[in-house]
Amino acid sequence: MQTPLIDPFQRPITYLRVSVTDRCDFRCVYCMSENMTFLPKKELLTLEELDAACTAFIGLGVRKLRITGGEPLVRKGIMTFFEAMTRHLESGALDELTLTTNGSQLERFAPQLAAAGVRRINVSLDTLDEAKFARVTRWGRLPQVLRGLDAAQAAGLRVKLNAVALKGFNEDELITLAEFCATRDMDLTWIEVMPMGDLGNEDRIGQYWSLKDLRAKLAERYTLIDLTERTGGPARYVQLQETGQKIGFITPLTHNFCESCNRVRMTCTGELYMCLGQEDRADLRAPLRQYGPGPAFEEAIRAAIALKPKGHDFDYSRQTVEGQVSRHMSHTGG
Ligand code: GTP
Ligand code: 5AD
Ligand code: SF4
Repeated sequence: MQTPLIDPFQRPITYLRVSVTDRCDFRCVYCMSENMTFLPKKELLTLEELDAACTAFIGLGVRKLRITGGEPLVRKGIMTFFEAMTRHLESGALDELTLTTNGSQLERFAPQLAAAGVRRINVSLDTLDEAKFARVTRWGRLPQVLRGLDAAQAAGLRVKLNAVALKGFNEDELITLAEFCATRDMDLTWIEVMPMGDLGNEDRIGQYWSLKDLRAKLAERYTLIDLTERTGGPARYVQLQETGQKIGFITPLTHNFCESCNRVRMTCTGELYMCLGQEDRADLRAPLRQYGPGPAFEEAIRAAIALKPKGHDFDYSRQTVEGQVSRHMSHTGG
């Protein structure tokens, strides 16, 4: 075993998020602008290069691999990549192979994902109202996603819903979403909206709904028991005493969790971003293409990790958006 990846703040890096495409079949208002220009296909790492890069990270101690996008399931041939990663689960080198998806393609892919060793998936779903769903995704169709959830559960995948908390949009669905997940035995995580991307007409301050407030509202209805267990991701969980259900909170704004950060993210062009909320990054595609996988590529990874900053600077205080990051969320897959 090689020396593991440790960043300048002594945090071991064990979680790699890989965006396999910048494309998506939706255009969620907090993630993309309406008219996105997507990368030419030749810029993307090939499936073989994705395999080589992920394998190198796993050799350096990464234990959790999350595939993101854009929407990862719209990348052509993506199942070949998932199937290739199965060998790392089988050898015990990897603890978890998973993905974050908008659910639109799950009906088709759920059985293949399960067969490749995926056990648990996160599906982005902010509302259970068809018209609101079409608005937030700009044109997504809710029934298609609901069929995807059914297919995922039928294939034996554990499902967690991710809901971005948006003031005046899904505040009224706090209980409905909790009940929907409880009946279907799914977990639910609420996420504070982060100031990313060209805002266009979007009013992030107006949209921002602090999870401190959300939690207080939830506590009016349920008894919340704080849990200490974690998934290796940034969420903190509570259990609802009345239903036994788990609800997660991802609070980059009200409770910065950077201190225990264990992750980096690679874009579909092989850029390694050291933090979601900062620009520090390194190109891994050039060394991978120049040297192939091996010691020189691993050195490039180590050199990149040495650039990892302490944390993000997101802040909505004083009614201005501080710490705004100009790239879209879809660039790094969250
Ligand atoms: P689990 O493995 O289920 O814990 O998933 P996860 O929370 O690690 O991944 P997911 O893709 O579901 O991400 C949920 C939300 O957390 C997304 O909005 C991500 O952008 C956000 N997120 C994940 N990691 C970080 C991080 O390091 N910093 C910030 N600010 N947000 C993060
Ligand atoms: N703030 C918070 N979460 C976001 N996501 C996308 N954009 C944002 C944002 N600006 C979420 C998606 C998905 C996850 C990968 O990131 O809903 O669940
Ligand atoms: Fe697509 Fe997910 Fe971004 Fe929505 S949040 S546009 S579903 S990548």
